[in-house]
Amino acid sequence: MEISRYTLTFLLLAFSFLLSLSALMTGDFICSGSESTCRSLVGFSSKNATTLGNIQTLFAVKKLRSILEANNLPLSTPRDRRVNPNEVVRVPIPCSCSNGTGVSNRVPNYTVKAGDTLFVIASEIYGALLRYEKISELNNISDPSLIKVGQRFWIPLPCSCDKLDGQDVAHYAHVVKQGSSLGEIAAQFGTDNTTLARVNNITGDPELLADYPLNVPLRACSSSVRNDSLDAPLLLPNSSYFYTANNCIKCSCDASSNWTLSCEPSQLKPSKWQTCPSSRCEGAESLFLSNTTSTSCGPRSCAYAGYSNQTIFTTLSPDACPDSGGPGNYASTLRSSFSFVMVLIQCALFCLCLL
Ligand SMILES: *[C@@H]1O[C@H](CO)[C@@H](O)[C@H](O)[C@H]1NC(C)=O
Ligand SMILES: *[C@@H]1O[C@H](CO)[C@@H](O)[C@H](O)[C@H]1NC(C)=O
Ligand SMILES: *[C@@H]1O[C@H](CO)[C@@H](O)[C@H](O)[C@H]1NC(C)=O
Ligand SMILES: *[C@@H]1O[C@H](CO)[C@@H](O)[C@H](O)[C@H]1NC(C)=O
Ligand SMILES: *[C@@H]1O[C@H](CO)[C@@H](O)[C@H](O)[C@H]1NC(C)=O
Ligand SMILES: *[C@@H]1O[C@H](CO)[C@@H](O)[C@H](O)[C@H]1NC(C)=O
Ligand SMILES: *[C@@H]1O[C@H](CO)[C@@H](O)[C@H](O)[C@H]1NC(C)=O
Ligand SMILES: *[C@@H]1O[C@H](CO)[C@@H](O)[C@H](O)[C@H]1NC(C)=O
Ligand SMILES: *[C@@H]1O[C@H](CO)[C@@H](O)[C@H](O)[C@H]1NC(C)=O
Ligand SMILES: *[C@@H]1O[C@H](CO)[C@@H](O)[C@H](O)[C@H]1NC(C)=O
Ligand SMILES: *[C@@H]1O[C@H](CO)[C@@H](O)[C@H](O)[C@H]1NC(C)=O
Repeated sequence: MEISRYTLTFLLLAFSFLLSLSALMTGDFICSGSESTCRSLVGFSSKNATTLGNIQTLFAVKKLRSILEANNLPLSTPRDRRVNPNEVVRVPIPCSCSNGTGVSNRVPNYTVKAGDTLFVIASEIYGALLRYEKISELNNISDPSLIKVGQRFWIPLPCSCDKLDGQDVAHYAHVVKQGSSLGEIAAQFGTDNTTLARVNNITGDPELLADYPLNVPLRACSSSVRNDSLDAPLLLPNSSYFYTANNCIKCSCDASSNWTLSCEPSQLKPSKWQTCPSSRCEGAESLFLSNTTSTSCGPRSCAYAGYSNQTIFTTLSPDACPDSGGPGNYASTLRSSFSFVMVLIQCALFCLCLL
């Protein structure tokens, strides 16, 4: 009796010690913002050849255009465009965070076909983007071996809305290949191995698991989109574009233009409005969205700042005049004078000690 209790305690201790030593990937993505939602991306590849249209259906993406935008493909690309085996297609998904984890927000739903098991659905049909246990857990399936043809399940894909050190990023689920390393994956996506390890709550390569999704934060272009805009946060990674403001505005992100979102009036028919509202710049009547003007202190441009159900917001980029000190400048002045005061106090204390 006594012995078995001690043995149990010992085993528990040893077990938790082992757990704290190695933190293998779980396939879950950390998403700390409670109740936050955003757009996230998953990298899908299939062993069999397929088409963009099939991928759109599988992931319940409303418009084919969203897939074209995420992959920087021309708008004219047809839905039957072939996708080769192992070709990776970026699929945008709506993300919802709760309980510290991010999962695709109640989409996609999959209908079971003859021969499917939860394992096949997760690891083959959805290209190992999630663990099959996740399907049973979130759909309250008590016995995963008892699934019926025609039954519908929600496929909770991993995603996140977290910022990275205060910077906006677009999270991308990358399925780890056998034999790859954090360093290689980081180099492929323009980040570094330490960041990847931290975001995924692992300490290094030994904990990287093949066929598990890895959370890759993709740097997004900085934008002036207001947080109350209907498309906020607008997080576009390198080499992607996005039609927004009911199709009236086309924004794109290109690392080669200094990671700044560039938006312009689109040539498409508006979706909810009769006509597109004027994109005249607030604060500069002669300027329109994407126009640039030169002032004595350098260029100022009219940037897209989001939209509401009635209007499109714009903002004039701050001018570069040294004496015009916007709020940002004021804050940094405050910060530097604060550190100056701290240095003075420390010097004074040091002198006191010497006496
Ligand atoms: C990170 O991993 C450690 C060790 O496995 C675990 O205790 C902790 O809960 C994890 N943190 C998050 C946010 O998942
Ligand atoms: C939240 O997480 C805790 C612990 O991980 C778990 O017990 C609880 O069931 C989760 N709640 C929901 C709503 O998923
Ligand atoms: C791929 O093709 C093979 C042979 O046609 C088929 O048995 C298998 O189910 C397909 N896999 C997927 C994920 O569609
Ligand atoms: C699973 O059960 C929990 C708790 O009863 C519930 O909140 C949740 O909505 C259920 N999920 C599904 C997909 O039915
Ligand atoms: C998918 O299934 C989930 C859980 O059963 C449900 O809450 C959701 O409404 C379904 N979504 C669609 C688009 O059918
Ligand atoms: C990142 O790579 C460097 C250089 O290869 C290595 O020294 C370091 O341990 C790696 N860090 C992680 C977290 O893998
Ligand atoms: C939105 O931005 C305004 C000003 O920039 C700020 O005061 C407000 O707290 C922000 N709201 C949210 C929900 O982040
Ligand atoms: C941005 O995307 C382009 C085109 O895919 C690529 O050539 C370039 O290397 C990428 N740059 C960065 C910094 O990711
Ligand atoms: C690129 O952007 C940064 C900050 O957004 C700015 O400080 C820098 O001057 C810009 N560089 C060029 C070449 O425009
Ligand atoms: C400003 O933009 C509008 C519409 O985008 C365009 O018609 C106009 O020619 C531009 N003006 C200048 C000065 O660039
Ligand atoms: C805009 O949205 C608000 C609330 O979201 C609603 O009260 C208003 O009627 C809408 N206006 C139009 C023109 O749709």
